[in-house]
Amino acid sequence: MRLKRRNVAILAATGTVGQRFVQLLENHPWLEISVLAASERSAGKRYKDACVWRMETDMPREIGEMTVVNTDLKSVKEAGDVDLVFSALPGDIAGPIEESFAVEFPVLSKAAAHRMDEDVPLLIPEVNPEHLELIPIQKRKRGWSGFISTDPNCSTIQMAMTLKPLMKFGLKRVVVTTMQALSGAGYPGVASLDIIDNIIPYIAKEEEKMEIETKKILGTFDGEKVRMADIIISASCNRVNVKDGHLEVIYVDLEDKPSIEEVKEAFRRFTGEPQKLKLPTAPEKPIIVRDEIDRPQPRLDRDAGGGMSVVVGRIRSDPVMTIKYLCLGHNTIRGAAGAGILSAELMIAKGYI
Ligand SMILES: NC(=O)c1ccc[n+]([C@@H]2O[C@H](COP(=O)([O-])OP(=O)(O)OC[C@H]3O[C@@H](n4cnc5c(N)ncnc54)[C@H](OP(=O)(O)O)[C@@H]3O)[C@@H](O)[C@H]2O)c1
Repeated sequence: MRLKRRNVAILAATGTVGQRFVQLLENHPWLEISVLAASERSAGKRYKDACVWRMETDMPREIGEMTVVNTDLKSVKEAGDVDLVFSALPGDIAGPIEESFAVEFPVLSKAAAHRMDEDVPLLIPEVNPEHLELIPIQKRKRGWSGFISTDPNCSTIQMAMTLKPLMKFGLKRVVVTTMQALSGAGYPGVASLDIIDNIIPYIAKEEEKMEIETKKILGTFDGEKVRMADIIISASCNRVNVKDGHLEVIYVDLEDKPSIEEVKEAFRRFTGEPQKLKLPTAPEKPIIVRDEIDRPQPRLDRDAGGGMSVVVGRIRSDPVMTIKYLCLGHNTIRGAAGAGILSAELMIAKGYI
């Protein structure tokens, strides 16, 4: 697909997710970074001086020379042409700032602030692309020429991707325990003295997000709003000493009691609009099934499909629920910046941007 290139502003461009956006957008065929914004601490500095670059590849040279601007509509508009905005703002300040940008621009947010708003999509392009139909409803209701669309929480995205193909078996109950990577806490994140030789069995607001967001993502758009999926989810979230890649142990109760082979086949066959439309960031396989007894593992599997595939393994029967399995996803790619970019590609391909 050949399309006009769109100019992108990144809010919170200096953080963990912002840096991943910068890395993934280098040489993107449809999207070009035109503005980098962050807090007052960074505004006025060159990007290379404002951020502690922690990506595995070098900072793109021309991006390093760009001047970071303050995160307000006027400063961003003065800094360059903008067609869409990626927001990686901290959740506690994102709400009103994103609204001020959405009056004029499409805002694709990684923050939690607007995820559960009734008229805001909580999008996983392979799972619920029809929820994009909330956008015209939102624009009409709020009188904006732009809009807000959100990506789910990083742990939720990878779990919801694996639950979607199981819905046809009558998904009823889900129990999940996460082992979440350090980069999920941003930079500098968790103090080294707290996490070395340790596991922290609490991540603020994470369990609630997994339990409620999943019901919206798997819910049905009825022409006006999303009806929540009728499933019960129980989550326990832990921070572990791994740099990138969240690993989750998932137990599901299914009405139809499929065989393990049928479950594996449902995972393997799972595909969606991004694959059909051949979007630039779409992985060939959204879910990869590993048959080895000791996979998936963060170090070996987080970069599968360029970090955009979710890897499942150890799929087996469960004496309490129906089946159990492990699921791994790259939290700053499929769980954050890659998710935002794939969402933007879908919106461009479908004419929302
Ligand atoms: N890390 C992940 O895996 C992940 C995954 C999914 C979603 N998220 C979400 O993405 C967002 C960013 O997370 P992160 O991990 O990138 O955090 P982070 O590494 O701590 O970065 C925070 C960013 O926010 C900016 N910021 C802080 N206060 C600001 C203010 N008052 N005005 C404007 N910008 C401000 C910082 O700019 P300065 O450098 O100028 O201070 C920095 O760019 C959060 O909402 C988080 O929940 C993170």
